[in-house]
Amino acid sequence: MPKKNRKCRKFTPRSQKYKKSIEECTNAVTISLFWTNLLAKLNEVYVESNPSAILCYGLGNFLESLQSRYQLGLLLAIKNVFKIKDCHIYDPKFTDTELQILAENGFEPISQNEEGKRSLLPGTFVFLPHCPKHLLNNLLWINWEKVILTKCVIFCNCIDDTITLTPNKIVNKIAYYINKISPHVVMEKTFCNEFMYDDVFNDMALHIFPNEKLKDLENFFWERDNEPSYDTEELEFTKNFNFLTLDIDN
Ligand SMILES: C[S@@+](CC[C@H](N)C(=O)[O-])C[C@H]1O[C@@H](n2cnc3c(N)ncnc32)[C@H](O)[C@@H]1O
Repeated sequence: MPKKNRKCRKFTPRSQKYKKSIEECTNAVTISLFWTNLLAKLNEVYVESNPSAILCYGLGNFLESLQSRYQLGLLLAIKNVFKIKDCHIYDPKFTDTELQILAENGFEPISQNEEGKRSLLPGTFVFLPHCPKHLLNNLLWINWEKVILTKCVIFCNCIDDTITLTPNKIVNKIAYYINKISPHVVMEKTFCNEFMYDDVFNDMALHIFPNEKLKDLENFFWERDNEPSYDTEELEFTKNFNFLTLDIDN
């Protein structure tokens, strides 16, 4: 093939190779015991209707990292099995090629760093794989309502372990809402050890917010403080320095 035509190809051989590998990772996820058990849990939670949307922050560079690629495989498996159209994803580290591959696979890359402050649609499956605590804390802050939380599930690092393993001073600074909700969440985590690699879904849990556990909480529990703000020295969490304070009523 002449050089000129090669340039016109939609994919470079490199991106083709990675695309194939994403398929392999997706297949590997779907034949695992981890997937069978996760799917059974999701079918229990979403009895009345399928998940309506996917939101993922912090997937990482899946063209470089095998862990991230298996995590993307999980997202694709969920997207396919539940036929989910509304799939939003963001990581400040995504390269242009990764953004292109995500778009080709039906994900809508979020165009700005929201720092996790996105209002959830009822029925959203949220995936925060090994993410900085700030993202979950911000997500909980902006969705701090019983009616929203009871309709969503969050697959992320196990909240109980996060609270137990983090010194109190840090919890108060960057995980206030995670700590506050922790006694009222159901965490399903045993199946996370059933994947063939132990550094992909390790330490995670599926977090469900059942109405039975939230319904008796007093109104003051749901009062929301000012927008969380964090010190700049945190290495893992990328702040949006151009981000204006959100008007949460709009
Ligand atoms: C520890 S890495 C996890 C990567 C991968 N999911 C894994 O398990 O190996 C944390 C990820 O969070 C991402 N991250 C940091 N700040 C973020 C933000 N404001 N919004 C979304 N993702 C963010 C980082 O870029 C990084 O890819």
